[in-house]
Amino acid sequence: MKIIVTERIADEGIAHLKSCGFVVDVALGLQHEDLLKIIENYDAIIVRSVTKVNRELIERGKNLKVVGRAGNGIDNIDVDECTRKGIIVVNTPESNTMAAAELAVGLAFAIFRNIPQVYMASKRKDFRRSRFIGNELDGKTVGIIGLGRIGSIVATKLKGCRMRVIAYDPYITDERFRKFGVEKCETLEELLTQADLITIHTPKTPETYNMIGEREIRMCKKGVRIVNAARGGLVNEKALYDALKDGHVAAAAIDVLEPEPSYDKAPEEQDYHNPLLELDNAVITPHLGASTMEANHNVGVAIAALVASALKGEIVAAVNMPPMATKDLTELKPYLDLAELLGKIYYQAEKETVEKIEVVYSGDLVRKDTKVISLSVLKGFLDPIIKEKVNYVNAELMLKNMGVEFTESKSTQLDKYTNLLTVKFHTKERQLSVAGTVFAREEIRIVDFFGYKLDFEPTPYILAIQNIDKPGMIGQIGTILGANNINIAAMQWSRNRKGEKAVAFVSVDVPVNGHVIEKLRQIDGVLKVSLLKF
Ligand code: NAD
Ligand code: MLT
Repeated sequence: MKIIVTERIADEGIAHLKSCGFVVDVALGLQHEDLLKIIENYDAIIVRSVTKVNRELIERGKNLKVVGRAGNGIDNIDVDECTRKGIIVVNTPESNTMAAAELAVGLAFAIFRNIPQVYMASKRKDFRRSRFIGNELDGKTVGIIGLGRIGSIVATKLKGCRMRVIAYDPYITDERFRKFGVEKCETLEELLTQADLITIHTPKTPETYNMIGEREIRMCKKGVRIVNAARGGLVNEKALYDALKDGHVAAAAIDVLEPEPSYDKAPEEQDYHNPLLELDNAVITPHLGASTMEANHNVGVAIAALVASALKGEIVAAVNMPPMATKDLTELKPYLDLAELLGKIYYQAEKETVEKIEVVYSGDLVRKDTKVISLSVLKGFLDPIIKEKVNYVNAELMLKNMGVEFTESKSTQLDKYTNLLTVKFHTKERQLSVAGTVFAREEIRIVDFFGYKLDFEPTPYILAIQNIDKPGMIGQIGTILGANNINIAAMQWSRNRKGEKAVAFVSVDVPVNGHVIEKLRQIDGVLKVSLLKF
């Protein structure tokens, strides 16, 4: 499989991908038009914040399975479109938070003490220090917008500078404010009117775009300082320019411009213009938040591992999947396998259209995070019938598009197993269910096959043979399989009532062709033969 890397990541990451057997093409600074021409040759793309993984690119990327965002923000990726196409989007949100937080704090010092301006003046042998009287952070109020991963680190560091820390973040609990010793602002206005320093740490969303505009800036105290090391456009650049010019904002430090310049061109090749660059009290850095040796290493290694796992079909914590820690995913692995297998049974054995799927969790499973297990059921259910790629990312959407209802419930009642996963398939006429359990943390068993009780260890090929419960059936089945050189690995019989119907679960070593299945069907008393492939 082939991976294209369009922005710089650590060499260790590239080496890891190669060691997994992937072909890796590093194509830095590629124009969007050129990328469009070649993207169909790749199974995965790794980007940072500049490459736009938009609808057009996704459309052309016919073979794309994974988009790796080396870093945090995913505003350059059309995640919804990826989800529709079943493309897994992975990022590394934890890997560069310290780097970004430290830059934000560094920029705060820079604009309180005029460090960049003094540095430039000193280079010119202008040592007239009286021109560079700054202010102290100590005792001032910092207003943090967005108290997430980075905002909270900034809060801790600035508390260390003895600043009063207030924050506005309507999406987090009061407990989180308490945890970081931060005063909560109920409204943005409350923050704007009190802060001497404003630092913004929200993602870029339609709600946060331009959230600090002309009106908001004018609400701030005169002489306020502003740091934006989150995303370009969160602070309106025109409004900021005007306020820096007339002194309402004393200084600003902006790591993220809108639009962003090219970070690979030499100065003489740059055709980038931005009025903020003309102002001495605007300190501009080139999206440098994540640029530390440590973060580069962390991000490169982490994204390579995620992309490699996702390409190998392993389940990974993805942006377009329910949130889940990697440790939890490892623990859930046997349940995910069981769920997929139960989902796969239906259309391999039945034909009636399913109108609703009900997943019931019992026993220990009640306490687990079951969303991803349900997705695994849906993935298995769709797998035999949908030709397009179906995975954890798009299974629920695909099911919805087919008009199939899906519900999940939990039951504490359990008589035989410590955990039980039941999948009920509702058709117009009836309800059919299959169930399974996990023993000793990893041993999967199918325990209910459409009402027949079993205790069967699933194997890649199983013949499920429904028949009249009468003597001689095993012998005839065995004879036909033997005559066709098909070895039986395991076999189990289940009947609902003596003399009525039974089902034989026959695990075979090789796939059984249609001709042999037909012969089995012709045995007197055989009602139905299904080959279940897992
Ligand atoms: P995060 O998701 O951990 O935290 C974001 C916080 O913003 C959340 O707590 C959320 O509730 C809050 N929020 C969302 N909408 C809000 C709104 N309208 N008003 C107030 N708060 C709101 O994200 P993070 O990892 O802390 O990253 C923060 C920003 O930093 C992102 O934009 C990310 O892309 C950017 N970033 C930049 C660099 C860089 O190089 N400059 C590096 C890493 C991250
Ligand atoms: C991020 O979102 O991780 C940062 O903006 C860093 C980057 O993209 O390089």
